[in-house]
Amino acid sequence: AAEGEVEPIHVDWSFEGMFGTYDRDALRRGYKVYKEVCAVCHSMEYVKFRNLAEPGGPEFSEGQVKALAAEITVVDGPDSAGDMYERPGEPKDAFPSPYPNPEASAAALGAAAPDLSLMTKARPGGPDYVYSLLMGYEEAPEGFELTTGSYNLYFPGHQIAMPPPLSDGQVDYEDGTPNTVDQMAKDVTHFMMWTAEPKLEQRHRMGFQVLLYLVALTGILYFTMRKVWADAH
Ligand code: HEM
Repeated sequence: AAEGEVEPIHVDWSFEGMFGTYDRDALRRGYKVYKEVCAVCHSMEYVKFRNLAEPGGPEFSEGQVKALAAEITVVDGPDSAGDMYERPGEPKDAFPSPYPNPEASAAALGAAAPDLSLMTKARPGGPDYVYSLLMGYEEAPEGFELTTGSYNLYFPGHQIAMPPPLSDGQVDYEDGTPNTVDQMAKDVTHFMMWTAEPKLEQRHRMGFQVLLYLVALTGILYFTMRKVWADAH
């Protein structure tokens, strides 16, 4: 971390390491947190509803995805008469943006709320930073001049325009997991890791297969060499 910045808390994420995979239930809970809390201010313009059904992600059913998409209204067009029209969302649509552009977001919130699609890849510390940021709201220490917004231990400069977004019990979890701030912060970060790296599981599997292949090849080459050179002395 740069001067004055605080090292983020390290979480043991299931997606870390060569065999890392996403936790399906965490992704589903995390989507709910994003949708019910973060999406009020933040867009995720690179994520489409249909991605929610793809292998390696939350793996909602096609029917669930259709229903989730249909909750939003999309302005589409122009139609054959040249007019724009409204229609219910479809799986091909991107997640809706709460503001038309960063200027409108900044005007409403004090600073533009950045798009969250790739956020876990966009900041040093990655998912640990995002989790820490969500956990990092505190009283400003004695002598800290907070002119606007909130004090956050992990945000560079510590003064952030985002109010503390999470409070205990805020999002109803249907799977019985305790909906503490800590748990919701972990789940939404897990979800944001998937949106930033939807092919992580495929990549890890491929890496492992390449490794197996190389081990097998080494064995074959070794015995081939022994055979080829068997009479060489
Ligand atoms: C900034 C995540 C909810 C408003 C950010 C940043 C992240 C984030 C990762 C970027 C911090 C950085 O630049 O390093 C989330 C998550 C949320 C959430 C995961 C849900 C749990 C909200 C809500 C609001 C909001 C509900 C509006 C009330 C903002 C604003 C910024 C911001 C205005 C820019 C802050 C600044 O530059 O000072 N958020 N956010 N966020 N968020 Fe959120």
